[in-house]
Amino acid sequence: MPATSVIGAQWGDEGKGKIIDLATDRADVVVRFQGGANAGHTVIVEGNKFVFHLLPSGVLREDKLNVLANGVVIDPVVLLDEVGQFENRGISLDGRLRVSGAAHCVMPYHRVLDGLREGQKAGVVIGTTGRGIGPAYADKANRCGIRMWDLIDEDRLRARLAANVHEKNRLFTRMFESDPLDFDEMFEVARAQGRKLKPLVSDTGALLREALAADKHVFFEGAQGVMLDLDHGTYPFVTSSNSDSLGIAAGTGVPPRAIGHQIGVAKAYCTRVGAGPFPSELHDDRGERLREGGGEFGATTGRPRRCGWFDVPAARYAAELCGFDGLALTKLDVLSGMEEIGLVVAYEIDGETVESYPVDTPLIERAKPIVKMFPGWSEDVRAVRSFQELPATCRAFVEEISARVGVRWEIVSVGPGRESTIIREAP
Ligand code: GDP
Ligand code: IMO
Ligand code: MG
Repeated sequence: MPATSVIGAQWGDEGKGKIIDLATDRADVVVRFQGGANAGHTVIVEGNKFVFHLLPSGVLREDKLNVLANGVVIDPVVLLDEVGQFENRGISLDGRLRVSGAAHCVMPYHRVLDGLREGQKAGVVIGTTGRGIGPAYADKANRCGIRMWDLIDEDRLRARLAANVHEKNRLFTRMFESDPLDFDEMFEVARAQGRKLKPLVSDTGALLREALAADKHVFFEGAQGVMLDLDHGTYPFVTSSNSDSLGIAAGTGVPPRAIGHQIGVAKAYCTRVGAGPFPSELHDDRGERLREGGGEFGATTGRPRRCGWFDVPAARYAAELCGFDGLALTKLDVLSGMEEIGLVVAYEIDGETVESYPVDTPLIERAKPIVKMFPGWSEDVRAVRSFQELPATCRAFVEEISARVGVRWEIVSVGPGRESTIIREAP
């Protein structure tokens, strides 16, 4: 059976968690393939709220196998804490969670370095989540990282950790004039984590290829979104992994052709957390209205999200890059009661009208939005369960987004709960 993926089509927080929880109903295996505890996916089931940072959102469905694949960077503190939190709520992960031995660990010095780099007066400040993600991926690329295989083997752990702590401490003390970290203490903590996590660690690439060969339904859960992708997003204001479907094969160890159906998730407006260009951003009370109405505050850091209109050129770029088969459009309910709703259909850059998304970041920084206004709707749509019942202006807005982005809408979400969803029949 071909695999399915759910990918953020904007700058993250599109509502992937809700869509993944909904769609994994039919999955056998749910896989995270990139990112780490920088993600914050909120899922609401029967009024109960669950926030995922590292665990796949498939955890809520009892019979699913959950995988943290090789492309994820894993902070053992967060992983053990999150597993514990779910167990405390009566959701056992016993036998349902596998962690790739090739996944890299986020170590205490990565978190410290993330903070020190962001605190510098000179240089670019990204507004990271402070979870040590960038430094962990940098060590991976530098070939000095500690993988899960190393964490669970005391001798390998000791040798690799010693080399890293030695190097990082020189950096902390000499370059940042900060305090060094204690090796012995870090080793003891890491060794204990390795012992606890050992039963979960395996070759998940082989496991996934076997699952695909056995015709299991494998589901890939994206974190962040296309516009935060390291290679294809608004560099340097991005995360440090391939946070679109291009990262799936490398991040899991399955052939690219395994990915069958791709769902791009987008809000009916746009948000962004952290620094970086955001052409459709609203700096007035309409932006404030979206933030308050949509509860747009980060699930990981609590930071207020920047808000703006739906950006068509950016979403079309995301769709073309990933090859989305279907669009899940979320948070339509948040727009209820707005007299007029904007859609950014093109940009003006240096006096020229540009309809496609320019990938060179300074051009996006200079882009002024060209906005088409739509009449809004006053009805509360949260109880609506069929497309035909939506107000005509709301339907027209959805259809126009779908047509301009060039992807058939497949799911419309009108509230945070599982039930507040309109699913379109396959053609
Ligand atoms: P993710 O990172 O893409 O999983 O998104 P987040 O969970 O960070 O942010 C989306 C937020 O919107 C969460 O609080 C969800 O519960 C909520 N949400 C998802 N879909 C809808 C929707 O259709 N309407 C409303 N009002 N909230 C939604
Ligand atoms: P989910 O999965 C929104 C942003 C940060 C920052 C940049 C780099 O919930 O959609 P990092 O800590 O990754 O080095 O930060 O990326 N960012 C997110 N923004 N949602 C996320 O995850 C994000 N993960 C990282 O705000 O601008
Ligand atoms: Mg989020």
